[in-house]
Amino acid sequence: MRKSAVLEAVEGLVGGEDLRKALKGVDIIGRIAVIKIPREWQGIRHQVGERILAKLGVDSVYMQTAPARHGDRVRGVEWLAGKRSTVTVYSEHGCKFFVDIEKVYFSPRLSNERRRIADLVAHGETVVNMFAGVGTFSIIIAKSKGAKVFSIDNNPNAFELMIENVAQNRLNGKVIPILADARETVAELEGSAERILMPLPELAEAYLGDAVRMLRGEGWIHVYAHEKGGNEFDVVERAKARMLKSAGQFAEVIKCEGKAVRSIGRKSYQVVLDMQVKPH
Ligand SMILES: C[S@@+](CC[C@H](N)C(=O)[O-])C[C@H]1O[C@@H](n2cnc3c(N)ncnc32)[C@H](O)[C@@H]1O
Repeated sequence: MRKSAVLEAVEGLVGGEDLRKALKGVDIIGRIAVIKIPREWQGIRHQVGERILAKLGVDSVYMQTAPARHGDRVRGVEWLAGKRSTVTVYSEHGCKFFVDIEKVYFSPRLSNERRRIADLVAHGETVVNMFAGVGTFSIIIAKSKGAKVFSIDNNPNAFELMIENVAQNRLNGKVIPILADARETVAELEGSAERILMPLPELAEAYLGDAVRMLRGEGWIHVYAHEKGGNEFDVVERAKARMLKSAGQFAEVIKCEGKAVRSIGRKSYQVVLDMQVKPH
């Protein structure tokens, strides 16, 4: 609905068939709209920003200037219109999150996936979130299931926001923010959890052995991957074959189910695998 509002906003200013394609990348994060602008619109980008600001009634419009970079997954942004502030409050599933779009990774497109994972958690479980960002998955899980969540991120900006988010959602002591490389926490958290989240496709597979070590016996690992080539079925099957092999080095895989979470480009998908494993 908001996307069509964006289309209406720029009608007359820019035209052509490419419009829908170009504006596919609109994210509304709290009071900020982040848009992708094709090269040929560069000269009128502030006008486009003003139109979108007025149409959507957000406080600020930014454009994405670079894709999420390796490591902290932060994307480059440039101000286009409205308030010059990259900090906003985003609400999801009854929780509130401070997000700084310039300093941390954040995607509203994972909202359904965060709900799905929270629904899988049993009351009172202990969970480790190895790549927690501002604490989104962790806080939703803790709030809806009373789970204890060790919530790790190595970006100091994400860690600071996570602390604020835990406090504003009144989850002190339930969500435990940890500033570290997820691998460094293994010794401390060994054998402590029933469930591990690995929402960082670029590193998840390499850290599977660490995830298994943090499980208290049989448990679940939710591992994310980026897969290219083929349809949704193909990418899931390919990710499954690879992860079964990798996880098999450290654990017996009792069950492994997967699905494409979202499209991230032509024939490219973010995939999640839910693996029930028993450590060797
Ligand atoms: C895709 S984001 C997580 C998003 C989050 N799950 C959400 O739903 O908002 C991945 C996060 O992993 C963090 N990260 C990258 N490498 C890491 C590492 N070695 N150890 C811990 N965190 C890491 C990044 O700083 C980033 O915040």
